[in-house]
This record gives sequence, C-alpha cells and structure tokens, in this order.
Amino acid sequence: MSSPLILGVESSCDETAASVVRGRDILSNVIASQADVHCEFGGVVPELASRHHLEKIDWVIDQGLKQAGVTLGDLDAVAVTSGPGLVGSLLVGLQAAKAIAWVRGLPLLAVNHLEGHLRSVWLEHGEIPAPSVSLIASGGHTGLYLVRDDDTIERLARTRDDAAGEAFDKVAKMLGLGYPGGPILDRLAPSGDPEAVRLPSPKMSDGSLDFSFSGFKTAALRHAQAHNLTHAYPAPGEPGAPERDLIASFQASVVEFMVGRLMKVAAREGARAVCLAGGVACNSLLRRRTEEEASRHGLGYYAVRRDLAVDNAAMIAEVGRRLLLQGSTASWSVNADPGLEL
Ligand code: KG4
Ligand code: ZN
Repeated sequence: MSSPLILGVESSCDETAASVVRGRDILSNVIASQADVHCEFGGVVPELASRHHLEKIDWVIDQGLKQAGVTLGDLDAVAVTSGPGLVGSLLVGLQAAKAIAWVRGLPLLAVNHLEGHLRSVWLEHGEIPAPSVSLIASGGHTGLYLVRDDDTIERLARTRDDAAGEAFDKVAKMLGLGYPGGPILDRLAPSGDPEAVRLPSPKMSDGSLDFSFSGFKTAALRHAQAHNLTHAYPAPGEPGAPERDLIASFQASVVEFMVGRLMKVAAREGARAVCLAGGVACNSLLRRRTEEEASRHGLGYYAVRRDLAVDNAAMIAEVGRRLLLQGSTASWSVNADPGLEL
C-alpha cells in the first residue's frame, strides 16, 4: 500500500478540519474556522470551541469525502489528532475518527498535532535537505526542531512562557482589534514605524536558546497603557499612527528574535535548510526575513504555504501515512492528551 487513501481529522483548537490524501496528494482540505465565535473574547474559549466542533464535525468530514470524490468504503485508514490541544476539542475529533475506523474496520492512527505542523512542510515541498531545523510557531506552541534524517526529530528549544501566536493575539486584544491577532497585526504593521517603540529581546540567564514572548507582550502593554492605546473590542475606529507604530515595532522585535534564534541553532547544528511551520509561519515579515537570512547563510528555505500553515487535517493525514507505513496503529483505548509533547 504505497499510496494509501487516508482521512485526516483535526479538532485540537478552534478549527474543525477534515482532509483526504492519497499518498502525498491532497484530494481535499476542508477547514471550518471558529474565528468569528472567539473574536469578541480576544482568544479561544474552550467550552465554546468544543461545542462548535460538535456542530461542525459531521459536515466537515462529509465535505472532505465529497470534495475528494471518495466514500468511507474507499478509505485505507483514519488519522486523527490526539494531542496536544484543548481536551474537550480533541475529544470531538478523536471520537468521530474512532467511530468511523471501528465501523469500517480501518486502522486508526493517533497523530501528534505538532508533528503535523512539522511535516506540513514536507507535504508541500517533498524532500528537504537534511539535517534541517524547523521553527514551529503557532497559537499554542513555539519551538525549534532538528530533523536529523527523515525519521529523527529532536526538540532543541521551546518557549518558556507564551507561544509566538499567543503574543500576537494578546497584543491585538489589548488594542481592541479582535482575534486571531496575527493576521490583523500582519496587515497593519507595514503602515507603522518598526523602530518607534523599543521592545528588547529576552536573554536567558543560562545561555539557552529557548524562546520567551511574555516580555514583549508586557512591554507592549505598558507602552499601550502609558499612551492610552488600550481598548475593549471593538476598538473605536481604525488604529491611528501610535497604534500602528506599536504594532510594527512589536512584530519586528518578535520576528527578529525568532529569526535570530533559528539561524543560531541552524549554524550550531550544521543544518542545510531551515523550515517555517504553524500559523505564525503565515507572517509576511517572518517569511521575508527568514528567506533573506537563509540565503545569506547559504541555507535552503522552506516555508509552508498559508492554507497548510494554519490548523488543517491534511498535515494530520500526512503523519498518519507515515505511521501506517511504520505499522504504528493506535488502540481503541487511545485518549486525548492535551499536554502531548514532540
Ligand atoms: O497553527 P495555528 O492555526 O493553531 C495552533 O495550533 O495554535 O496557529 C494559530 C496562530 C494564532 O495565534 C494566529 O494569531 C497566528 O497563528 N497567526 C499569525 C498569522 N496568521 C496566523 N501570526 C502572525 N502573523 C500572521 N500572519
Ligand atoms: Zn496548530
């Protein structure tokens, strides 16, 4: 079974998603986002998220199969995110996937969401020169991972507090701009001065290359409070020059911090390529700066395209494909694991 037909299911946070892949060909990639539901709260409300997953899961799976032109009877396996994520959200996708696999007598594949993000780059680009270093930056996680060869993934750095996307979301929230904050700040930043507000990068006292984003967020909050820029959602009117300067400065500081760490680790590990994955990989400045630095250091640059960067089920199916080939199927008792690590 070199190109198995796999249904992927994803519901770890606020996207309900289903995808059908044949080998590495994406036949469908359906994503129902709950951004509108959580917008006024400036972040994901777990109880609302799981309720909306329940409302959407059947429709999303149905659409995933229809758009791929297949039926449940054609599938070779079902892959589903088992963690990390919100437990109530994870359980919705997990139970749906278990039910389908059980009724159809198909192998069930339990996928780590973070490995999904990491492999999304391979799903799009095919083989990546090894060794490579991947920055996975999303709303819940931020870390650097060394892929030594196709099968070995090693975490080299993680965030010690907030995730990168979470910091974007919190800054947008404090300015009354809504959720998710990343795309909103990305759109506004080019009209501000990135050098207007100084937001210093954190230094780890133990010399580690771990990330920390809460300092950027707190410094941005102090600046916003001192200049009366904080608002409840929705902010009155369009953001003015002081808000845009803060946004541009925040984005530039966070991006330079991430790119600096990524390049340092890539040099230390003798990497041949750097990769960007996770929702924050959509950020225009992060993509541009990583590409520039990679080219300056003679490294390959692979950023996942935007519809595979945000939470999706095609990346889950891709990890499922690998698990199936390895014979690593899950048992029926597999549970949601909110703190699952990679
Ligand atoms: O990977 P993802 O869809 O979900 C998680 O696994 O968390 O990432 C969502 C995160 C949100 O925090 C969102 O604000 C951020 O990715 N994001 C961005 C951009 N697009 C999405 N951050 C910065 N710039 C963007 N263009
Ligand atoms: Zn994610």
